[in-house]
Amino acid sequence: STWDCSKQHIVLVGMMGAGKSSVGRVLAQRLGRRLLDSDEMIEERTGQTVREIWNAEGEPAFREIETTVLAEAVAADEPSVIAAAGGVVLSEANRAVLAASGAHVVWLLADVELLLDRVKNGMHRPLLDDDPEGTLRAMFETRESLYKEVADAIVSVDNRTVNDVAGAVLRCC
Ligand code: S3P
Repeated sequence: STWDCSKQHIVLVGMMGAGKSSVGRVLAQRLGRRLLDSDEMIEERTGQTVREIWNAEGEPAFREIETTVLAEAVAADEPSVIAAAGGVVLSEANRAVLAASGAHVVWLLADVELLLDRVKNGMHRPLLDDDPEGTLRAMFETRESLYKEVADAIVSVDNRTVNDVAGAVLRCC
C-alpha cells in the first residue's frame, strides 16, 4: 500500500450510526493514539451540546463550528484517529481539507437497517427526530457519492463487531 499510517491521521467518515466513534475508540486504543471526535470537540469548545447549538443557533451555525474543528483536528501534529461526524462531507471546503490533509480517510459503510438500529439514542442527532428511517434513506442518497469522493478506503461494517471493523480499517492502511 502507498499509505503509511504510522505518519498519518486516520479519519473515519460515514453515516450516523455507522460506528465511527466506537471504532475510533478501539483504533485509538490499539495504536496508542488520541481520538479526536468532531462532535465532542464542538461540545468542548462551545460548552454546549450538539442539540443545544442546533436549537439555539440552527444547523448552519453548527456546520460552521464543525468546519473549524475538522480543520483543527487534521492540523494536529501527532498522527491521530479522527471520528468525523456524518455531515462533514456536505461542505466542499471540508472535503478539500480532507483531501489536502494527507490523512487516510476510511468510509464505514453500513446498511440503513443497521444504522436505524443504532441511532436509537438520538441525543446528538436532531436531524433524526422525525421519521428516522426516511431521513436516513434520503441522507444516504445525498451523501453516498460524497463519502465515496473523500474515501481512500471503504470498510463494510455489516455483520461485523467493532473489533473486526477496527482490524479491517488497519488492514487497509
Ligand atoms: C450529523 C451527524 C451527527 C451530528 C449531527 C449531524 C449529520 O454526528 O454531528 O447530529 O448530519 O450526519 P454522528 O455522525 O457522530 O452521529
